[in-house]
Amino acid sequence: MKNSPILIIGKNGKTGNRVNQRLQALGYVTRPVSRSTTPSFDWENSDTWESAIKGTHSAYVTYQPDLAVPSAEATIKKFVRVAAEAGLKHIVLLSGRGEEGAQRAEQALITSGISWNIVRCSWFNQNFSESFMVEGILAGELVLPASDTLEPFVDADDIADVAVATLIDPHHRNKLYELTGPRALTFTQCVEEISEALGRPVKYTGIPVDDYINTLNEQGVPEDYQWLLRELFTVVFDGRNCNVMPGIEEALGRPATDFKTYIQKTIGTGVWNAEKQKQSA
Ligand SMILES: NC(=O)c1ccc[n+]([C@@H]2O[C@H](COP(=O)([O-])OP(=O)(O)OC[C@H]3O[C@@H](n4cnc5c(N)ncnc54)[C@H](OP(=O)(O)O)[C@@H]3O)[C@@H](O)[C@H]2O)c1
Repeated sequence: MKNSPILIIGKNGKTGNRVNQRLQALGYVTRPVSRSTTPSFDWENSDTWESAIKGTHSAYVTYQPDLAVPSAEATIKKFVRVAAEAGLKHIVLLSGRGEEGAQRAEQALITSGISWNIVRCSWFNQNFSESFMVEGILAGELVLPASDTLEPFVDADDIADVAVATLIDPHHRNKLYELTGPRALTFTQCVEEISEALGRPVKYTGIPVDDYINTLNEQGVPEDYQWLLRELFTVVFDGRNCNVMPGIEEALGRPATDFKTYIQKTIGTGVWNAEKQKQSA
């Protein structure tokens, strides 16, 4: 099986990239795809799917923009059908906690008859360093419409380790792992820990969700993305996801990475160093 490629949908993504690196280091042949690869894969254009899938035997699937969007369930249903017809035998789906739309999309895979795993995750630590939140950390103030709800942020390296285990070890087949970090933290606490480790002031400011969305609107952010962010910061961040779950320990037999460890390895990358970022721009 090592010579038949493993498909990775989300080549440049926070977890897709890590899953790809790990599989290659273990000697597996991979086919990492996204809109910018050849062959390309675009969730919004199902004509691209079959040629990306053909010849692969299992897949790590990250959906864009988010499984919470209303169209995700139908798209995943269609994707699983196309994948099975193209010969795919096993799908590992990255999902989100507490999102009704995501849970409906999970069901579309679970009930499809194809071999499956669900990797259902809390918010990623790497949103602070590899996504839109990095700008706030660099600027010294992170402004978001999240109240002081607790969230057990999970590390993308742990997610990738679980995804790889489910892809290469059949003992995990047809299991759902709910992954969180070992501590639930508020945004204020996360930013305080980052600020302390960086040795410079960074603060968190919570604002009303309507103000946040109005600003995004003024900046020309597309309406469906505005909808998604409102959904994430109101529904998903209403406290429903504050409990810590043992999914990483269950899947890997080791504890989840702590937020402080994430901070230390991220400082090592230089991504929160404004001077270094200016030089590499
Ligand atoms: N971030 C979190 O905290 C979190 C938590 C739980 C679950 N999730 C789930 O994780 C998944 C990934 O979310 P993410 O925000 O972390 O993104 P991500 O994995 O970092 O992925 C970003 C990449 O997706 C590719 N992409 C964008 N639109 C695409 C499209 N239409 N078709 C194919 N590829 C596309 C882009 O590459 P190209 O430009 O090359 O196409 C981009 O580099 C989502 O389903 C989300 O629900 C995220």
